[in-house]
Order: sequence, then C-alpha cells, then structure tokens
Amino acid sequence: MFGTRLLGRNSQEKRARDGQKGAPVSAHFDDVYFSVDDGLAESEYVFLDGNRLPRGWQGRDYFTIAETGFGTGLNFLVAWKRFEETATPDQKLHFISIEKFPLDVEEIELHLQPWKEVFEGYLNKLLKVYPFVTPGFHRVMINKRVMLTLVFDDVNAAMPQISGDVDAWFLDGFKPSTNPDMWSDEVFKNVARLSKPGTRLSTFTAAGGVRRGLSDVGFTVEKTKGYGRKRDMTIGVFKPEEITGENG
Ligand SMILES: C[S@@+](CC[C@H](N)C(=O)[O-])C[C@H]1O[C@@H](n2cnc3c(N)ncnc32)[C@H](O)[C@@H]1O
Repeated sequence: MFGTRLLGRNSQEKRARDGQKGAPVSAHFDDVYFSVDDGLAESEYVFLDGNRLPRGWQGRDYFTIAETGFGTGLNFLVAWKRFEETATPDQKLHFISIEKFPLDVEEIELHLQPWKEVFEGYLNKLLKVYPFVTPGFHRVMINKRVMLTLVFDDVNAAMPQISGDVDAWFLDGFKPSTNPDMWSDEVFKNVARLSKPGTRLSTFTAAGGVRRGLSDVGFTVEKTKGYGRKRDMTIGVFKPEEITGENG
C-alpha cells in the first residue's frame, strides 16, 4: 500500500543515471539532483555557505540541520564532513532529511562515485548504515556525535510528525515549477513551526512563490547569487516578529 508511493530502485521514475557527467536526473521532475558542473561545490556553496556554516554551529552544543529531499545524501556528506573538520569533540550534529523516493545503496554509491576519494570513510559509513527503503522514520547513529534521521515519506505528511528546533534548513526538493508539492504552504508552515528566531535557510531556487511563502511565515529572505550558471538562489533567516512581507 504505502510502499508503492515510495519509488526506489525499481520505480517507474526513470533516471538517466550516467547522463550529464554522472549527475543523476529525475525524468519525472525534469530536474537534476545536483549541478552537472560540480555537485559538491554547489552543495558547499548553496547549503553550507548559504546557511553561514560552519560559523553557525560554533559554540553550540547541539546543532540541527533539516533537509527536504535526501536524494543521494551528497548534502548530508558535505555537512557531516565539514562538521567533523570544524566542530569540537563535544559538539553534536543532528541531520534530519525527508525523502519520498529513496534511492537504494547501490544507486547512492554509483552517483557519488565522483567524490569517492573526497568522502573516503564517510561514504562507506553512510552506505553501511543506510536503512532499508521502507516508509517511516529511520534513526541512525553515525558516530558518537552525529545522528541522521531519515524520514521516508512525502514531505507534507512527514513534516507535521517532526518536533524539535531546527537551526538550519537545506531546502532542496527539485524546482517548484515541476514539484509544487515540495514548496506548499503546508511545508512552509512546518518549516516555521520547527524554526526559532535566528534559524537560517537556503535553497537553490529563487522562485517568487517560494520567497513569498517563506516570507509569509516569518523568514526574512534575500535573493543572492546562485551557483555556477544559476543566476539567483535564496537565503533567509527566521525573524517571526517581523512578518511584514519579503525582505522584512
Ligand atoms: C534535488 S533532489 C535532492 C538532492 C539531495 N539533497 C542530494 O544531496 O543528493 C530532490 C529530492 O527530493 C525528493 N522529493 C521530491 N518530491 C518529494 C516529496 N513530495 N516529498 C519528499 N521528497 C521529495 C526527490 O526524490 C529527490 O531525492
């Protein structure tokens, strides 16, 4: 029943796996999982720099990142690696990611081949602990200070079930024109519910509807230079006391 909604390896969603320099493509959403030029550099630029990380977790005992769209796990690996490189031993990271169409371990390994050396140790660990592709919450202790919660479900169904405070959002759910479900009012409402003053977000898209939706729920959003050939992207900070429209 439920499982048929989660499209994994044998899904109807056809992916051009080795097209475009190895960057996976979703034919269904007519979009790429990450930049065909350099997915790693894009992830660092859009999601780490866009959220002012690692500065954001400096001096914090616990730091929580939440992501819409786990995909290949590239963003998770980028954040986890940077955390290990910059955080002090007593700091802890919780990374939550929601994914409706989980890839399986073979697909993840294949798509992340270009960065096998960069993520040496990290990628193997992820592949080893990656949960069975069954619906629901999967919590994985990556090591003593990094925890990964994978929620295999539609973002609109998953978000209301999540509680806690998120410090940084990676909004990465394919472009809004082909995947409006990822950018619904319900999603924006829950992003705000899980945020606290000062929570940051970033996303590759600068679509007006996304900026307005985020602004309406209390984020001060800013259009900024996108990665590579992308002209713009969006960053934001939660300032619920200033709900006055875009750019506060
Ligand atoms: C651009 S890709 C994410 C790339 C990913 N962050 C990475 O590091 O590889 C967008 C992801 O959103 C997922 N997705 C699309 N619609 C969704 C929905 N309604 N709910 C949850 N996940 C969804 C897709 O399956 C895909 O994995």
